Amino acid sequence: MKSVQEIRDRFPALSKKVYGKPLVYFDNAATSQKPQEVIDFQTEMSSFENANIHRAVHKLSAEATDLYEQGRLAVQQFINAPGTENIIFTSGATAAANLVASSFGHAFLKSGDKVLVSESEHHSNIVPWQFVCEATGAELVVVRVNENGEVTPQAVAELLDESVKFVSVTHVSNVLGVVNDVKAIVDEVHSKGIPVMVDGAQGIVHTDVDVQNIGCDFYYFSGHKIYGPTGTGILYGKREMLEKLPPYMGGGDMVGSVSFEKTTYADLPLKFEAGTPNFIGAACYAKSLAFASQLKESAFVKEHEKRLMSLMDKGLMEIDGLNMPSSGSKNRTPVYSFTIEGVHPTDLAMLLDKMGIAVRSGLMCAEPLVKKYSDKGMLRASLLPYNTEEEAVYFIESLKRAVNMLR
Ligand code: ALA
Repeated sequence: MKSVQEIRDRFPALSKKVYGKPLVYFDNAATSQKPQEVIDFQTEMSSFENANIHRAVHKLSAEATDLYEQGRLAVQQFINAPGTENIIFTSGATAAANLVASSFGHAFLKSGDKVLVSESEHHSNIVPWQFVCEATGAELVVVRVNENGEVTPQAVAELLDESVKFVSVTHVSNVLGVVNDVKAIVDEVHSKGIPVMVDGAQGIVHTDVDVQNIGCDFYYFSGHKIYGPTGTGILYGKREMLEKLPPYMGGGDMVGSVSFEKTTYADLPLKFEAGTPNFIGAACYAKSLAFASQLKESAFVKEHEKRLMSLMDKGLMEIDGLNMPSSGSKNRTPVYSFTIEGVHPTDLAMLLDKMGIAVRSGLMCAEPLVKKYSDKGMLRASLLPYNTEEEAVYFIESLKRAVNMLR
């Protein structure tokens, strides 16, 4: 990949106009746009490879099954998991988090136990744990972030004691874009023999994820944030952990044998894949992750991202009264959340929308973290390599204009 235009040409959505203006899509942390090859593959599968997987002897079912399993292989290779049995297809990151919280919690938590999550978690890594804590009498303990919004290994280590039975932290904050040193966090937690899960919903997009190097017991993400279709997610788990967990949902395909007296379960990974999955969406990982790999391997893209971030950093700092909590962090991704004195973030987002710019405002599904900085919520601009330097400049100019209109 040698130019931004070459990348953009593969995304039909990026040529769209809103209010007669070219769309500037800066809401990538919510969902990414999809390249043509993913859209084409979805259509092709729906048209010619539509048969239920793992169930029938006929040719069409065998082809669909093969494509589904190729999607799993693509995920295994992308995150360097030891085998395809470590990769569970779910309906999204949220479903993966709920699976582990519910299965682990109901099987292993009891009154007096603690689960640690950080202050910077997305609701999907808070609420499922609240469910199981309420049901089991365990306690949810919160690791505070530092002055840059980062979860440090030291802060996690300080809260570890014998009553802590599980730790779950985000790799990259969906609000602040800061990258947590999850490998060091995992080392700290494992030194006490406690399992760790990492929320990779943003980490999968913005970092090179090697789950064996990180060493975590579980890592999860959704496909739609990394150029794939919605309704697909991944739970990676270490084999011994996945074997220890009881199944989460019961139904077809997750069983060995069913009788009214005793049911046995399928081997990994199918033990966790009850019901007809989104097999077309899952098969698309072969295309979406191939595209993501091309981006990650491109020297041009690396330089382009640096230029985009430097334009954004410089431009944002010129704005009077702008407060960006992550500004002191040395390990950031192009995800920017901030407040501006005297203006409401949602008013700003609405004005920016009229200028053709899509951003997110509010609590970003991470209310505890956002409320730490502002009761009114924040404004978030999140970029991907298909965003241009011209868009970054236009965003800063438009933001200044919008602020002046509102002050
Ligand atoms: N989790 C998504 C976001 O951060 C929806 O916007």
